[in-house]
Amino acid sequence: MLAQWVRLCGAQEAPKPGEVMEAETQGVAVCLANVDGRLAALDNWCPHRKGPLGGGWLEDEAVVCPWHSWAFSTTTGIAEPPDRAKVSVFPVKIEGEDVLVDLA
Ligand code: FES
Repeated sequence: MLAQWVRLCGAQEAPKPGEVMEAETQGVAVCLANVDGRLAALDNWCPHRKGPLGGGWLEDEAVVCPWHSWAFSTTTGIAEPPDRAKVSVFPVKIEGEDVLVDLA
């Protein structure tokens, strides 16, 4: 599939290491996390009960859902056992002043 890079937010607005935030682009809600300086973009909606992952926090390299604490890998999107679920992970990059995500 062809890449579809779109602007998510400004590089200045992006979370600092250890932080997570919610952002939206093209009608898609994204959880943007900064894992030790590496940006990761995941589907914002937790597959459990649609909790906002961008309102959660980081534990090691996983984003923890603020509602019932399911934890999702920021690299694979797979939930940590015993929870069985997966969220989409979008490629992300900084270009100039902008954070871009590939929604394709
Ligand atoms: S809604 Fe995310 S863990 Fe329940």
